[in-house]
Amino acid sequence: MMKRVPVNIEKRYLGKTDLQATPIGLGCWQFSGNRSYWNSPPQQEVDKIVKITLDGGINWFDTAEFYGRGVSERALASALCKTGIVNHDVVIATKWFPFFRTSGNIQHTIDKRISCLSPYEIDLYQIHMPYSFSSVEAQMNAMASLVREGKIKHIGVSNFSAAQMRRAHAVLAKHGLPLASNQVWFNLVHRNPEKNGVLEAAKELNISIIAYTPLAQGLLTGKFHKNPELIKKLPFARRIQVGRKIEKTRNLINKLENIAGAHNCSLSAVALSWIINFHGDIVLAIPGATKTEQAQQNIDAQTLKLTPQEMADLDEVSRSVK
Ligand SMILES: NC(=O)c1ccc[n+]([C@@H]2O[C@H](COP(=O)([O-])OP(=O)(O)OC[C@H]3O[C@@H](n4cnc5c(N)ncnc54)[C@H](OP(=O)(O)O)[C@@H]3O)[C@@H](O)[C@H]2O)c1
Repeated sequence: MMKRVPVNIEKRYLGKTDLQATPIGLGCWQFSGNRSYWNSPPQQEVDKIVKITLDGGINWFDTAEFYGRGVSERALASALCKTGIVNHDVVIATKWFPFFRTSGNIQHTIDKRISCLSPYEIDLYQIHMPYSFSSVEAQMNAMASLVREGKIKHIGVSNFSAAQMRRAHAVLAKHGLPLASNQVWFNLVHRNPEKNGVLEAAKELNISIIAYTPLAQGLLTGKFHKNPELIKKLPFARRIQVGRKIEKTRNLINKLENIAGAHNCSLSAVALSWIINFHGDIVLAIPGATKTEQAQQNIDAQTLKLTPQEMADLDEVSRSVK
């Protein structure tokens, strides 16, 4: 595996904000205690994953209210506290859950989010999905109020279409605030943001794209191709998600394997390096991890430099995955 290098990773600004984040952050859905989807690690393992992540130079974490109604947020805050890191040295992103709620709920629930993450402040507060009963405009007005009150620092959205992103951006501009980011499903086998106008709008308006599920839930690590028995052990929903793509992704996995061999690194590092570099600095990624080794492999992506030919080859092979 890759040789460890001292980590001082160049950070990227999130959109037009002054918030600086490493190209890779840690996704914390896995810390939600949700055993019906993830083999959620116990707190002791969460502590180790978070420490390895910080030691690897990563400076930010993505969680959400939805991830166990505060379980993931509390697990993250607890693990961060044990490392001794202080609030200003770490970037925290969390999300408001909009289902069956109006924008008024943003104000009602913010204190709960703050207390779950305490003593760490919310640097980026995102609307998890565009499914609130209220308009995008009303939600953005509510988020802008939280910034004015000093309860959050910056505003992001998630799963927003290009049109919804443009609306969010326009409302916030009236408040003199930037829309920092749109967090969307984006990886080598799911490249919709390149086709549905989201990436194009993000580039035009200078809004960062945060790629979630960047490893296709483990598919792009090659472990399920190598050992199909692992698929049978997955919780039902994930078994379906991963299982139906195995055959379709065989060529892509072979290509990832060749490139990983040439760089003496993991397939996950190659897949992540591609997603955070193929479109320049605008895309950041938040792989999840249930084990320390995974967290370490994913961190390695930040120091891995693929050649232009390798980037192009991955682009080409991945386009053939239908
Ligand atoms: N905004 C949204 O709507 C939304 C939706 C989904 C996710 N997210 C965010 O995005 C984050 C990441 O997405 P995701 O968790 O769906 O998928 P992912 O990052 O593509 O896959 C993560 C899973 O893959 C396996 N894995 C990770 N690294 C590995 C490695 N190096 N080697 C082998 N296996 C590895 C682990 O599962 P096992 O150990 O169980 O195999 C891990 O839990 C989440 O934590 C969450 O913060 C946001």
